[in-house]
Amino acid sequence: MRKKIVAGNWKMNKNLQEGIELAKELNEALAADKPNCDVVICTPFIHLAKVSDIIDHSVIGLGAENCADKAKGAFTGEVSAEMVKSTGAEYVILGHSERREYYNETPEILKEKVLLALENGLKVIFCIGESLEQREANQQNEVVKAELEGSVFNLSAEDFQKIVIAYEPIWAIGTGKTATSDQAEEIHAYIRSVIEQKYGKEVADNTSILYGGSCKASNAPELFAKPDIDGGLIGGASLKCADFKGIIDAWK
Ligand code: 13P
Repeated sequence: MRKKIVAGNWKMNKNLQEGIELAKELNEALAADKPNCDVVICTPFIHLAKVSDIIDHSVIGLGAENCADKAKGAFTGEVSAEMVKSTGAEYVILGHSERREYYNETPEILKEKVLLALENGLKVIFCIGESLEQREANQQNEVVKAELEGSVFNLSAEDFQKIVIAYEPIWAIGTGKTATSDQAEEIHAYIRSVIEQKYGKEVADNTSILYGGSCKASNAPELFAKPDIDGGLIGGASLKCADFKGIIDAWK
């Protein structure tokens, strides 16, 4: 059976001390009240090594928000997948719409990043999702299919099983405007059908597909109740322990 996952994406928030505080608080909260799902926090690079020492990795997985598209060498300012792995992290988010849009990450670049992440033993949370314009033109299915084909459908079935998909409609990210649970379920089911066409039913059934975009404790239970929604990738509401824990508890 596929995993239920609640993952936080801190984005460019929290200095090191604040990040450590939040990780400690979450670690304590989940030690006191064990989650019914996998929990992952994805932090800025500089937090990873310290946060890795703080958290109980059997309860909280750790991830980066990005990694380089090159293995090593003269790429000033970049952080490789191998470096991420060496901090104790187990995951990396790739393909986030903010990276695609603001840092010009193309499907080809993302394909390289995915391969390097997997080579280095990281699991990938691969983000896909349409813009408002694309949704209004009813192109969402084509968009998510092309994003999968462009960067992860080159993988073997074995490697594809190390990928978690996060469907994040761009119009719902940080806007307070969530996809309705029916809208989200419809496209999650479509995404699963596309995976099934490519890799077969067993792989599709085992792939976790997370919803992201203004997910919070108040709407998580309704979203997570849908058969093809296997959890969430949470931005703003992952920055406060109580808010994030509220979403984790939606699985109870
Ligand atoms: P928000 O939860 O802040 O809308 O962000 C979603 C997101 O982009 C997670 O990666």
